[in-house]
Amino acid sequence: MNSNHSRETQSIPVDLIREVFNYQSRFEGSTMVFKIDYPVTEASGFPGLVKDIALLAQTGFKVIIVPGAKENIDAVLKQNNIDSSGCINVQDFPVRVTTSQAISFVEMAAFDVASRFMTFLSGSRVDAVIGNFVRARGLGVINGVDTGHTGTVDKIYAESLWRVLNLGMIPILPCIGWSPSGKPYNVQSDEIALAVSTTLKAEKLYIISVHSQSDGFSLPARLTPQEADALIAIKGNILQNGAENACLGQYLRELKLGLKASRAGIHRVHIIDGKEEGAVLKDLFSNIGTGTMIYADEYDSIRALHSRDLPDVLRLMEPLMQEGILIRRNASQILEKKDDYIVLEIDGSIRACGALHEWGDNQGEIAAVATDPQHAQLGLGRRIIGCLVEKARKSKINRVFVLTTQTQDWFESLGFKEAPVETLPEQKRRVYDQTRKSKVFTLEI
Ligand SMILES: CC(C)(COP(=O)(O)OP(=O)(O)OC[C@H]1O[C@@H](n2cnc3c(N)ncnc32)[C@H](O)[C@@H]1OP(=O)(O)O)[C@@H](O)C(=O)NCCC(=O)NCCS
Repeated sequence: MNSNHSRETQSIPVDLIREVFNYQSRFEGSTMVFKIDYPVTEASGFPGLVKDIALLAQTGFKVIIVPGAKENIDAVLKQNNIDSSGCINVQDFPVRVTTSQAISFVEMAAFDVASRFMTFLSGSRVDAVIGNFVRARGLGVINGVDTGHTGTVDKIYAESLWRVLNLGMIPILPCIGWSPSGKPYNVQSDEIALAVSTTLKAEKLYIISVHSQSDGFSLPARLTPQEADALIAIKGNILQNGAENACLGQYLRELKLGLKASRAGIHRVHIIDGKEEGAVLKDLFSNIGTGTMIYADEYDSIRALHSRDLPDVLRLMEPLMQEGILIRRNASQILEKKDDYIVLEIDGSIRACGALHEWGDNQGEIAAVATDPQHAQLGLGRRIIGCLVEKARKSKINRVFVLTTQTQDWFESLGFKEAPVETLPEQKRRVYDQTRKSKVFTLEI
């Protein structure tokens, strides 16, 4: 019995649990808007996705859902022989012209999609409200075309939304808005998601659709607004030059929405694939998500070590010290040389560290370099080395060295060259551990 118990305990991923608590305390009570395209509701992972969103609402996040309904509206109009071929361009996006004949069918299709969310949320025992939170006005006549019941967001009824959110309920906003006199308009769900996110100053906007694999194009994990802008320009150019790629076209549309939201002050916009099991939770609780994140503020930073970082730094180093890759240091030894250490923080968690110790003779030792294995191969280690080399330059050090037993290839790839132990500064030579047989690698700076 006892041995079973200890085996089970060992298999619990403690780091992951810590990470979840860390995130929960950081984001609890924060507002998240989920813009979810219609095809996601038809994917097999849809019930799981709604369950995850319900879980977030139950844990204290304020969640709003904006379902896209385009394909369902197309289907309903077709079934009822309503011509929906009319289209106008609004800010570079094609927008359906909704005639007075079509609007009641559009409403029906939009509410049908919203109620799918309601059904699955009910299954997770979360209260939800499909509501009239959008005041809309008509687009009027554009380039001689009467756009009928095609509308734009006039106002988001923020107070009503807050009332619902503060009761712990999830508001669902179908792609319909109403004029003050009650006239219905078909409004783009992208526009509603953007308006709701900015009006409520949401912390995060999720744009969830079904991504099919795009030829030769892997989605970038993180983009600043400037990088997103550049990507849109480059890839948009490719599309204009005739490359047929529906997936890329859709991704660019999502990027444009994300960029607008980011420029309007939403700090994190996540573009993710709704097909992927647990995509929202992975994205939220692992710092580095599976889709693309557009981040408007400082997402990661390298800074000096603070005393409060010690537990995190020791957690990074402990397995490496156990394996003998790093030499053993305890908390007080690190604190004694606190100013030598730097850490790389991502969204509030320490993910890499390193130190530069001065030894005289204008030489500095790079030591205690470690990257969190969950964030390996993302260039964090390289950035730590770059920052330590910069630190050394500022201290008028002209040669840095490292003693390594198992990481020589990595240092060589960064330009370090093997050197004899005799080249070490006098003071370091005296404490060089002959039994460890570390190799010396140096970099002239
Ligand atoms: C070495 C270490 C810091 C690299 O961190 P990282 O953030 O994953 O590294 P980067 O993302 O900057 O670089 C990744 C590249 O280095 C390579 N790399 C990573 N660890 C390596 C190692 N031990 N030996 C050789 N190459 C290695 C990766 O294959 C990758 O190559 P690529 O760019 O061609 O794909 C990390 O693996 C670590 O913490 N190792 C244990 C501690 C250690 O050895 N510290 C150095 C002694 S002070």
